[in-house]
Amino acid sequence: MAGKISPIVWNDTFATGVTTIDDQHKILVNMLNEANERLDESTTRDVLLEIVKDLISYALYHFDEEEELMIHTRYPQTPCQQHMEEHRAFSERVTTIQRELVQGTLIHRDELIGYLNNWLINHIMGTDKRFESFVLASEG
Ligand SMILES: [Fe+2]
Repeated sequence: MAGKISPIVWNDTFATGVTTIDDQHKILVNMLNEANERLDESTTRDVLLEIVKDLISYALYHFDEEEELMIHTRYPQTPCQQHMEEHRAFSERVTTIQRELVQGTLIHRDELIGYLNNWLINHIMGTDKRFESFVLASEG
């Protein structure tokens, strides 16, 4: 049997320095690792749907929090829009996966976990960190 994708191991390079955001990122990492752990070749559609539903609902909550902070701290328009655009693209992709599951098209676990893990790590390391260094600088 093929090995599973490795779990994401939280390390200090993921930390943005904004505690509430880091805490939410840790929850997201845990959710992805749990999904990775739970999913195997015998996973039913119901379990897959439940995992995707929980994930999208927490991700949307987290994106809202970040976006509120962007507005509150007057993050400049261009990076702000780019950042929100990334959140939207992720939400749309996961919502599409969810809709396809409802319609009966199962996504392969490696494709799902691979996409989620890559997106989250790239987003935290690039886009989120850019915003959070702005927040920290504006706090002086
Ligand atoms: Fe973000």
